[in-house]
Amino acid sequence: MASLTIRKLDDTVKTYLRLRSAKNRRSVEEEVRVILRELIEGREEPLTPFAAPPAPSTTPTPQRAGAVAEASVTLIIGGGIAAYKSLDLIRRLKERRIEVRCVLTKAAQQFVTPLAASALSHERVYTDLFDPQSEFDAGHIRLARDCDLIVVAPATADLMAKMANGHADDLASAILLATNRKVLLAPAMNPLMWNNAATRRNVTQLQRDGVVLIGPNSGEMAEAGEAGVGRMSEAIEIANAAERLLRPPVPKPLAGKRVLITAGPTHEPIDPVRYIANRSSGKQGFAIAAAAQAAGAEVILVSGPVDLDAPPGVTVKHVESARQMLEQVQAALPADIAIFAAAVADWRVANEGEQKLKKTSAGMPPLQLVENPDILATISKLADKRPPLVIGFAAETEHLIDNAKSKLARKGCDWIVANDVSPATGVMGGDRNTVHLISRKNGEMTVDSWPVMTKEQVAIELVAHIAKSVSDKSLEPAS
Ligand SMILES: Cc1cc2nc3c(=O)[nH]c(=O)nc-3n(C[C@H](O)[C@H](O)[C@H](O)COP(=O)(O)O)c2cc1C
Repeated sequence: MASLTIRKLDDTVKTYLRLRSAKNRRSVEEEVRVILRELIEGREEPLTPFAAPPAPSTTPTPQRAGAVAEASVTLIIGGGIAAYKSLDLIRRLKERRIEVRCVLTKAAQQFVTPLAASALSHERVYTDLFDPQSEFDAGHIRLARDCDLIVVAPATADLMAKMANGHADDLASAILLATNRKVLLAPAMNPLMWNNAATRRNVTQLQRDGVVLIGPNSGEMAEAGEAGVGRMSEAIEIANAAERLLRPPVPKPLAGKRVLITAGPTHEPIDPVRYIANRSSGKQGFAIAAAAQAAGAEVILVSGPVDLDAPPGVTVKHVESARQMLEQVQAALPADIAIFAAAVADWRVANEGEQKLKKTSAGMPPLQLVENPDILATISKLADKRPPLVIGFAAETEHLIDNAKSKLARKGCDWIVANDVSPATGVMGGDRNTVHLISRKNGEMTVDSWPVMTKEQVAIELVAHIAKSVSDKSLEPAS
């Protein structure tokens, strides 16, 4: 790969880069990387380096959507024998799609070379606080903040003492004092150094300051015949600890629960080519399925005809009519939670034509309607396989709350999510929804009205309510 020297760029470009990087509070190098990434992704931001700078961020860079978000670490390598393990740590971090920029203390360079760290990280290595090349734009501040995490490995007794006391007389300690990122230390030292009262005081102070420690482990020391607590954690342990801090596990409050969801309209055939339908898009039910799946549930989605992609990880059963929907719902039981968000047709044509109905001089074909099975009531009233939590949707165009309350009383379900689907609301087929959650508390019906939200937000909120109810009631698992 060709390398780019910013000094050799022409003055206009350099000025632009300096202003833009200052505005975005990144190093010039980092800014060039961002510009190139944006160009490749086809979304370069307008050339407005003079716009008001954003407030300095104190939170890690937001993770971009995708399989595994990228993250970056500033790795400070201290002057201890274990520094050789940090070369392996660079590889372990990069395997986890974590970018690494290394800083070597003066002492560290006695144990490993900047060249080795640079070759493994594929990045420039930093060693000097007073380096005119990186300090023209306060490089030590960039190293302290243009990352999601700082890892110090090995964290020498000396580095920890400096940190605990706020020293900043070299690049490593200046970065550690200037950072607003989380710091992970992997101490490594002789057991006597580790147990020394001064080190004990420093460790206590650092933990109070919110610094996270991994290790040290117990074992043999480099010094012949010495053993005890002081060995640096293995590279893989440090990389795992860094990853836990960078990508904390997402809570899965519905793990182990089976959730059955219906979505979309139903199509009730008139003849082989015509049907009765409604305007439901299925977006709300699909969003609930995605939110339940993200909360760790096993999700079965029974969907009427819609133009939506199956949410990843969700089992979708496609149906057309209300009767097919009921069949698939019954086949999917048992479930811990059932959410009936489909807009099921109340009626179907009793005398469905076997052939396409023809215009005749006898006038309009007589269409007789019969009631469809009531899926919500059927499942709510099951004696044996009733899911412990059954939620229905009420789509109303008038008297929303009254109608929804009487639906809750009539159907035997536990909650009703009521939404006004009058054309003016744009709910049917639209992306937003305003819902009212109707449930019972101490025998009384309660109405919880939510503000207007996207259907995804409604889904996340509903799943959060379900998760709370599940943990309060500890629903028995479906089996
Ligand atoms: C051979 C050798 C091995 C060392 N190993 C360690 C060690 O494992 N841990 C430690 O805290 N200091 C160790 N030291 C002492 C540090 O190198 C010394 O305190 C140095 O000033 C640390 O600088 P730094 O914290 O800026 O990296 C060692 C020194 C030598 C000569």
